[in-house]
Amino acid sequence: MPLDSLLSTLMNEKAPDNIQQKLNKVYTCYEGLHKELIPILQDIQSIFDYLPPESLAETAAFLNIPESTVYGVATFYSQFHLTPQGKNKVKLCMGTACHVRGADEIMKAIEKKLGIKSGGSTPDFEFNLEKVACFGSCALAPVMVVNNKVYGNVTPEQAVKILDNISS
Ligand code: FES
Repeated sequence: MPLDSLLSTLMNEKAPDNIQQKLNKVYTCYEGLHKELIPILQDIQSIFDYLPPESLAETAAFLNIPESTVYGVATFYSQFHLTPQGKNKVKLCMGTACHVRGADEIMKAIEKKLGIKSGGSTPDFEFNLEKVACFGSCALAPVMVVNNKVYGNVTPEQAVKILDNISS
């Protein structure tokens, strides 16, 4: 089965208790080479939306490398998450251009609205909040991205309104 089809099938499987089975299916697409670590982690995350703890140990065993190496890569790259993510991904840029145009105040407003800190998820996993170094859209600063939709020149009030519209 092509990798794309396999991933799509695995993502649509709802049973939460077959993590090992899903991991094994991912590994069948690889040869066990060290250079495959990042693509494997990306595939695992595309299935679970984060890297379940057992996936680090299993991947280390599959690639015959220390678990600390897998953990090091998983924590180095911001694309990887070690905890379950919220359904709606809220990202706020805290880069220089956004910072000087009030990103701190926007972050405070979002944190207050969602009741979580940056890096966290709401208890119902509806939202998770992340800060980003720069989206590369500095002319639009301050920039907020929700579920890949970009909002520029955001104010704290607008940020709250955006979240209201998503949750309603
Ligand atoms: S600093 Fe925010 S988009 Fe570049």
